[in-house]
Amino acid sequence: MATEGETGALTGETSPATAGRTHEHLQTLREMRSRAVLGGGPKRIEQQHARGKYTARERLALLLDEGSFQEFGALATHQVSEFGLERQRFPGDGIVTGFGKISGRRVAVFAQDFTVLGGSFSEVQAQKISRIQDLAIESGIPIIGLNDSGGARIQEGVRSLAAYGEIFVRNVMASGVIPQISLILGPCAGGAVYSPALTDFIVMAGDSCMFLTGPDVIQAVTGEQVTALALGGAEVHTSRSGVAHLAAVDELAGIAVAKRLLGYLPQNNNEDPPQIQAEDEPHRMDEALNTLIPNDENQPYDMRDAITAIFDNDSFLEIQGAFAPNAVVGFVRLDGYPVGVVANQPAYMSGALNIDASDKIARFIRTCDAFNIPLVTFVDCPGFLPGVEQEYGGVIRHGAKIIYAYCEATVPKISIVTRKAMGGAYVAMGSKQMRTDLAFAWPTAQIAVMGAEPAVRVLYRDEVARAEDPQARTRELVAEYREKFFSPYRAADVGQIDEVIEPRETRSRLVRALEVLRTKVQQNPPKKHGLSPT
Ligand code: HXC
Repeated sequence: MATEGETGALTGETSPATAGRTHEHLQTLREMRSRAVLGGGPKRIEQQHARGKYTARERLALLLDEGSFQEFGALATHQVSEFGLERQRFPGDGIVTGFGKISGRRVAVFAQDFTVLGGSFSEVQAQKISRIQDLAIESGIPIIGLNDSGGARIQEGVRSLAAYGEIFVRNVMASGVIPQISLILGPCAGGAVYSPALTDFIVMAGDSCMFLTGPDVIQAVTGEQVTALALGGAEVHTSRSGVAHLAAVDELAGIAVAKRLLGYLPQNNNEDPPQIQAEDEPHRMDEALNTLIPNDENQPYDMRDAITAIFDNDSFLEIQGAFAPNAVVGFVRLDGYPVGVVANQPAYMSGALNIDASDKIARFIRTCDAFNIPLVTFVDCPGFLPGVEQEYGGVIRHGAKIIYAYCEATVPKISIVTRKAMGGAYVAMGSKQMRTDLAFAWPTAQIAVMGAEPAVRVLYRDEVARAEDPQARTRELVAEYREKFFSPYRAADVGQIDEVIEPRETRSRLVRALEVLRTKVQQNPPKKHGLSPT
C-alpha cells in the first residue's frame, strides 16, 4: 500500500469529466515534490557526498524516528530577481523544516541544505524556520537545528540580514522555555553563527567550522593567516573559545550525541526531564570511593572517577569537557532521573576556579535550573586562581556569575565537599547559605577561610617573629590551625554541613535526598528579569 509521502494522499470519487484534470493537479504536485527532494540537484548532492557529508534530508532521516517526519514549506521559493537569482529557484529554498519524533518524543527540526546556494540564509529560510520556532514554542516541544550554511545570502542583501533578526528574536523567546540544540555539520559563517550561539547547546561534527569573519577577510584586515579549521573548527570551539558544548568525529556521531543530550532534557520548562527505568541498584555502595582521596592532600585525583562511581552506570554526559577542565559539568542519571553535576577538578590546576571555569559553571547551573534538572555539586577547590591576568580579565564579575546562578536557581540543590572548600570557593560552590538544600561532606573535607600557612602568616606574624625558633613556632601554629579547620566537623558543628558521610554512601544518600526534594517548590521575587553579571 502506498504511504502518504509517496502518493501525496488525496483519493476519492471523481467523475470521468474531472478525472483528467485531477490527475494533472496530482501530477504537478508530485513533480514539485520530487524536485524539492533533490534540493540543489543530483550534481550538488554528489559533491556533498564526495565531501563525506550527508544532505539535509539524509540527516533528518538519521536524526528522527523512522517515518515520523512531516515536512512543511517544501515548495516555498524566493521571489528575488537580482544577481541572477531568478534563474536559481529551488523548491524549499535551501532549508528543510518540519516536525518529527526522537525516541517517540515530539521535536521540531530544520536542516539547512548546502546543495542549494551553499545553504545561504534567505528571507524564505527565515519564514520557514520562524514558523517552526513559533509552533515549537506554542506546543512546548524542543527544536533541533542542523546547520550547514555560508551565512547571509549575499544576493538578497538587507533582506537576508533582516531575516536573521526574525530567527534571533525567536531564539531568545524560546530560551528557557523549550530546549534548543544546534548541530553544526558544515560551514557556519557570518550571521549564521548567532542563532546557534543563542541556543542552549552547540554540537560540532567532523570538519565543521564556525566563524564570524572567515580566513580571507581576517587576512585582508589584520594580515593574520589561518585556515578555516584552525580558526573555527570543533577543537577550537570546544577547548579554547567555549562556543561549542560537544564535539563529534563525524556527522553520525554528532547526531547520536544530540539525541543522547535530548534524553536528559524535558520537552519544555513546565515539564520534568524524562525518567528512565534504572538498571543500576539505587543503594549500591562503591568501596573504591572510600579510598579515592589520596592520603597526601596535595595529590590530585580525577573527580570524574567519583561522578562515574556514584551515578547510574554509563549515564555521565560531560558538557564542555575540554574547555576550562579545572571544572567539570555534565548530565548524569540517578536512579533513572536526570541530574546536573557541577564539580571542581583537582586533577587540573588543583581545581582552582578561574574566568572560564566560572562562565562554564554558571551557564550550566542556569541551564539545569531553566529545565527543572536538580543540581549536585562536588567541591574540592583551593579558591579562585590568583593573578594579574585573572584580575584584569574580570575574574570578579565572572566569578560572581557562579554565585548569581546558584542563588537564583530554585531546583533541588545538594553539595558534597570531598576535600578543599577554601575561602571564596566554599561560598561560591553552592554553600548552604546560598539556598543549597542539603550540604554533605566526606571525612576528608577541609573547610576553612584560607590555607593553613597563609592564615598563620597573617594571624601570627608578630608572635612568629618574637619566637626563639620562628620555624618551629610556625609549624606548631599551622598544626593547630589544621586541627581546628581541616576537617568537616567544625562546619558540621555550626550547621554549615548537614551530614558528614562515608564516600561509599554518597549514591544512596543522594537517591534518598532527591526523592524528598523532587517536589520542592521555591520561588524568586517577581521581577522583569535580574541582572546577572556578564
Ligand atoms: C550566497 C553562497 C554563500 C552566501 C556560499 N555560497 N556562501 N551564496 N551567499 N553567503 C554559494 C557559493 O557561491 C557556491 O555557489 C556554493 O554556495 C558553494 O560554496 P563554495 O564556496 O563552493 O563552497 P566551499 O568551498 O565549501 O566554501 C563554503 C564557504 C564559502 C566557506 C561557506 O562559500 C564562503 O566563505 N562563503 C561566504 C561566507 C561569508 O562570508 N558569509 C558571510 C555573509 S554576510 P556556486 O554556484 O559558485 O557553486 C553575513 C552577515 C550577517 O552573514 C550578519 C547578521 C548578524
